[in-house]
Amino acid sequence: MAYPKLSSPLILAPMAGVTNAAYRILCKRMGAALCYTEFLSADALIRYKDALDNPIFDVVEEERPVVTQIFGEDPKKIFEAAEFLQGKTDVVDFNIGCPAPKVLACGGGAALLKNPSRIKEILEQLNTLKTPISCKIRLGVDEQHIVALDVAKIAENAGCCAIAVHPRTQKQGYSGKADWSYIKKVKDIVSIPVIGNGDVEKVQDVLRMMQETGCDYVMVGRAAMKDPFFFRKAKHYLDTGEVLEDLSFSEKMQLLQEYIVLLKKYQLYTDILVKDALIRFTKGYRNSAQLRLELTRTKSSEELQEKISALL
Ligand SMILES: Cc1cc2nc3c(=O)[nH]c(=O)nc-3n(C[C@H](O)[C@H](O)[C@H](O)COP(=O)(O)O)c2cc1C
Repeated sequence: MAYPKLSSPLILAPMAGVTNAAYRILCKRMGAALCYTEFLSADALIRYKDALDNPIFDVVEEERPVVTQIFGEDPKKIFEAAEFLQGKTDVVDFNIGCPAPKVLACGGGAALLKNPSRIKEILEQLNTLKTPISCKIRLGVDEQHIVALDVAKIAENAGCCAIAVHPRTQKQGYSGKADWSYIKKVKDIVSIPVIGNGDVEKVQDVLRMMQETGCDYVMVGRAAMKDPFFFRKAKHYLDTGEVLEDLSFSEKMQLLQEYIVLLKKYQLYTDILVKDALIRFTKGYRNSAQLRLELTRTKSSEELQEKISALL
């Protein structure tokens, strides 16, 4: 089963606490060709499977095609969660890279990199479903135990439709640099699409990653978390070789307002989500530190909205 055909190589990375349905739609409007949900616990997904209003699964028709990422450790539960997602999402992505202590403690995410045979079992079972299955990996637990190439082969042989590579080890967390040479090494040994990820900070990095590694798609995380407009800039750069100016402060606030409208439309609105986005969106603008402080101290949704409106 195939990965969706994309109109550009630009993909929004899965990011917990960030890539909710409203944010994904915003990034799509800005030019992301495909977006990933944040990772969803397989256990939690099946716990709420029969609830009318599933509190963690937020995919909406407007954004499809979309990739839903799940994590877990128990092959049976992971299968059950993916089965629940059949027909509700376009690809189920399995997380084999999360370094968060809470996830590692349950044996999920990057902890699985210690256990390639478990990865094989999980991916083979998932690939008996009708939904296309992909996975997102890190290099290994640490530098002495790099398993990315073995895992990439396992994923391909199990029938996965694509593999995303964030070339850092679990131990590295987000420190050091993503070693793009591993994206190339994976690309050289598999014939499924390879999604390169890690340290794409400027729009020029998108093209550079594709040229240096041969990857099919480029997945952008932190740069898009600060600025969904990154996708429009990157698309423009790929099409024309020109680098667009960044958004002005007031244009950025309009983008925030668009996000708020989407959060409300899909009943996802919380002040925390808006304040978080505000803090990320305003970084780097002149005199924004004081403003951020004021906005984060607001005590009600009305007060927060008033302050944001005054900036438009
Ligand atoms: C706030 C945050 C949350 C993240 N959550 C997830 C997640 O749920 N699943 C996942 O596979 N990776 C997650 N990641 C990792 C990103 O998808 C990506 O691999 C990483 O940030 C490297 O890409 P970048 O350099 O473009 O940010 C997260 C990263 C950040 C910063």
